[in-house]
Amino acid sequence: MSVDDHKRAAGQAAAALVEDGMIVGLGTASTSEFFVAALAARKLTLKCVATSEATAALATRLGLTVIDLDDAGVIDLTVDGADEIGPGLALIKGGGAALLREKLVWEASARCIAIADATKTVGPFGRFPLPVEVVSFGHASTARRLAAVLQRQGIAAPPVLRTKAGQTVRTDSGNVIYNVACGTIADPPALAAALKAITGVVEHGLFLGLAQTALIGTDEGVRTLHP
Ligand code: 5RP
Repeated sequence: MSVDDHKRAAGQAAAALVEDGMIVGLGTASTSEFFVAALAARKLTLKCVATSEATAALATRLGLTVIDLDDAGVIDLTVDGADEIGPGLALIKGGGAALLREKLVWEASARCIAIADATKTVGPFGRFPLPVEVVSFGHASTARRLAAVLQRQGIAAPPVLRTKAGQTVRTDSGNVIYNVACGTIADPPALAAALKAITGVVEHGLFLGLAQTALIGTDEGVRTLHP
């Protein structure tokens, strides 16, 4: 089975957990797209909150009803992908540049499920470059202060501005992203707190204590992980 087969299986397993009448948070990027497709195929009566413009467009095209986060109240269940799944279901997210809206939706949710292929659980936590979303105004200046904070956390790697095809990547909120090749993150809560304290940093890709379940597609079927 391919990585895409594993992503699809995880997305389908999560879609099977959605109940009629729910308000559902929809994640962003490839695994979430499999979830959105499987969810739309169930033809339930749902209200959905999207974590990106791309997901909102896909969901609407497939016939799902998309509402604003501010109109949702408490979201019953959010299902979203992950770039890395560590001990206790600590996650790194933001590979798809949607980390800010993703975290806003996750934190508004009663329950969150991470869906992923098996490659996302391999190796020491911190292998995937940690995305840090930074306000566009003065972002190089913010990045210098970010680098100093990282050094104090024992992370020597410099923040690298994310580009695509030679262009600076902008998030749906107009911010930029710096990637940090942390290596191994020894103390994720301490790093998360230090990053949040930097003026100009809007959000980071550490999702700690937010996922209640992870569904991992493997050749042997979908594995369920708990913290
Ligand atoms: C987007 C994310 C994605 O969930 C993460 O990048 C996983 O992507 P994929 O499902 O394509 O492997 O955090 O910001």
